[in-house]
Amino acid sequence: MCGIVGFSGEQQAAPVLLDGLKKLEYRGYDSAGIAVSSGSTINLMKTQGKIVNLCEKTKDGALTPGTAGIGHTRWATHGAPNDTNAHPHLSNDGRFAVVHNGIVENYAELREELKSKGYVFLSETDTEVIVNLLEYYYKGDLKQAVMKTFNRLEGAYALGVLCSDCPGKLYAVKEASPLILGIGVGENLFASDVTAIVSYTKNVIYLEDGEFAEITPAGVTVFDVAGRPIDKKITRVSWDIEAAEKGGYEHFMLKEIMEQPHALKATLEPRIKDGRIVLDDCDISPEKMKSFNKILITACGSAYYAGYAAKYAIEKLCRIPVYTELASELRYCDPIMDEHTLLIVLSQSGETADTKAAVEECKKRGATVIAIVNVVGSSIARLADHVLYTWAGPEIAVATTKGYTTQLIVLYLFALYAADKLGRLEAVEYSRLLKELELLPGAVQRTLDRCRELPEIAKAIGNPRDMFFIGRNVDSAVCLEGALKMKEISYIHAEAYGAGELKHGPIALLEEGTQVVALACYEPLLDKTMSNIKEVKARGAEVLALAPEGNRRAAAEADEVIYIPSTEPLFAPLCSIIPLQLLSYYVAKELGCDIDKPKNLAKSVTVE
Ligand code: M6R
Repeated sequence: MCGIVGFSGEQQAAPVLLDGLKKLEYRGYDSAGIAVSSGSTINLMKTQGKIVNLCEKTKDGALTPGTAGIGHTRWATHGAPNDTNAHPHLSNDGRFAVVHNGIVENYAELREELKSKGYVFLSETDTEVIVNLLEYYYKGDLKQAVMKTFNRLEGAYALGVLCSDCPGKLYAVKEASPLILGIGVGENLFASDVTAIVSYTKNVIYLEDGEFAEITPAGVTVFDVAGRPIDKKITRVSWDIEAAEKGGYEHFMLKEIMEQPHALKATLEPRIKDGRIVLDDCDISPEKMKSFNKILITACGSAYYAGYAAKYAIEKLCRIPVYTELASELRYCDPIMDEHTLLIVLSQSGETADTKAAVEECKKRGATVIAIVNVVGSSIARLADHVLYTWAGPEIAVATTKGYTTQLIVLYLFALYAADKLGRLEAVEYSRLLKELELLPGAVQRTLDRCRELPEIAKAIGNPRDMFFIGRNVDSAVCLEGALKMKEISYIHAEAYGAGELKHGPIALLEEGTQVVALACYEPLLDKTMSNIKEVKARGAEVLALAPEGNRRAAAEADEVIYIPSTEPLFAPLCSIIPLQLLSYYVAKELGCDIDKPKNLAKSVTVE
């Protein structure tokens, strides 16, 4: 997690680095720093807290002059978030500066080794061993020192290196953490994510693990682990910088919620041609599809909940058992699988460490892997046998919204596509469901339009000690995501339960005024959920219900109702999640929370 950025060109580096760090701040925001070389001097400034503090401290970069530099925004792993542990770190002789995203697993032994050679350590970080190894191995050849250091490190890391002996020259190293090069004219960059690059150039190179690059204003050279230059493809990024900016919204999260109809359309429409689903990027023959005897879905956090919500549709339409497992568990649970297993892996960032490790484990065991990923060229996309991209555009807010819904729509597409390949759907039913899918972006827009009362509802909810989200079938899966959204941005304790499960224990927690959000959107089980709403009302709970339009019973049972468009019940999560995203947004806003950067979290969890 942490974001790193580097720039070498003719203009002043510090403003470019600060701008890049602002774009990467979603990756971590407990401290930040930059190091800029000017002649043979390295100007270093770092500070606890957000990038705004660093901008103040450096007077927007004026106090750190120079045309080549590196920057870092931190999500602490080793050591408290203070000025000393903030990056960049300097070598003992002050000749090297390093920024680092990831974890050096063997840092303790390297630290002892360097200490025995007389090196002194000022911070608690693992990064200080890297910068001192560079000093130790440097005998006048920076590339050799980088390679020797690289060879000693174990773990996952992306590094940026600056040396006062080589002004204008940077090194960028990648091993299991994301790193992208930006190829400009007379200036070149590196960053953890394209959002920090696209204002300067749309031409990028995705580094692979084990590769490193030398960056000067004149060009970049990429090397393999043995130091041999390699040819790399330059990719043109389609994202515009506006896509990574707030565009008039108060928060990225609100902007991204509002973008969902568009993101869903962009993800869906190119894959429907002449009334058929065409998945060019995932063409599985009917024979191959029939060879799978189970489907396993894995992911972390919201991506896992998207998989869990879509499991119902895949199982119902394909009639293959579908299992879900958290990636952080799957990687260590000795999973039973072989070449008859289809693994569907979901990740917005494509870089989540647990998810990546789970995919590696399942591939070893013979599973075929389909990845549903938002970031093009990301690690998980590259690992998978087939990739289905969600065309959501950059998602900046830490709490995912359009990432989740575009994952859902791809999973629904896949459910229909696979069911057709398996011969499990009559032509008429296939066409009906496909039409239902095509209606979903519009239905999401109508749901957004109906949420006008949510700011008032959020105000009335205030800051309760607990919130409970209940529902049945697909609604129970949406409750998990709704409760997660509430927890992560408002810090209110929120739990999700299958509505039928309440009476087996959790109902003991209900008392006068307890806030319950009841989803009654899955129409086949509406009556059952209505009975559960009665049960919680009878215990004095305040109930906000979500129900399909036309269902007047909900108004009679609940205190407040938000009506959502009536869709194919299996696809209801796509609409029912919308009011829950907005509810958490407005509750958090009322409470004055830092919505886009909630405490203790980071957007891309690239550590275990
Ligand atoms: O990038 P990924 O989709 O792999 O991330 C997975 C989770 O870390 C992520 O969904 C997390 O739960 C979000 N903060 C939820 O809003």
